[in-house]
Amino acid sequence: MLPSTWLSGNSRIDSDPYHASEFFAERNMITAWHHHLKLLGILTVLLGSALVAVSEEQSKEKWTAPGAEARKKSPVAANESSLAAGQRIYVKRCVACHGRTGNGDGPDAADLGIHPAKLSDPAVRGETDGELFWKIPVGKKPMPNYGTRLSPTDRWNVINYLRSLARR
Ligand code: HEC
Repeated sequence: MLPSTWLSGNSRIDSDPYHASEFFAERNMITAWHHHLKLLGILTVLLGSALVAVSEEQSKEKWTAPGAEARKKSPVAANESSLAAGQRIYVKRCVACHGRTGNGDGPDAADLGIHPAKLSDPAVRGETDGELFWKIPVGKKPMPNYGTRLSPTDRWNVINYLRSLARR
């Protein structure tokens, strides 16, 4: 009797002397892998452009506050102490983008890829206090959302200050 390893070894060499079947099997696997990679690449590109499209859509969309919010009246009079408090908040949190005079030319503005709203812009000037009061904590990319970091009083104060800048 011949050892079984011999037998199988012999039979393989006989039927496929150059191991061609192994070579082709391997090549098929590599081709399939390349195919997968290519598909993955295409999917990534598609997904990426879809995301870009969605975010562009968002930034072009008009930003409006809900009606009831827009009608909210400021309970904080624009007196000297409110303006001083508003200025402190503005200098600390808003000036980097909106600029010292509210012109949208703060030092960080250039990196945003979008011009921060000019506070003297008629579109912003024409908004009610209530609208701005609603928008500041919500934010809109790249403008950060201030959430609860600014108390309602802080927000009314900073709005009073924005109004005073826009008049200059
Ligand atoms: C990181 C930069 C950045 C900071 C910081 C920032 N903003 Fe903005 N802000 C923006 C950009 C950009 C827009 C324009 C957004 C848009 O229209 O897509 C904007 C828009 C606005 C608008 C106009 C909203 C409208 O109706 O169009 C107001 C008001 C405003 N910001 C107030 C503030 C206040 C108040 C602060 C500080 C508490 C502040 N922002 C801080 C970048 C910033």
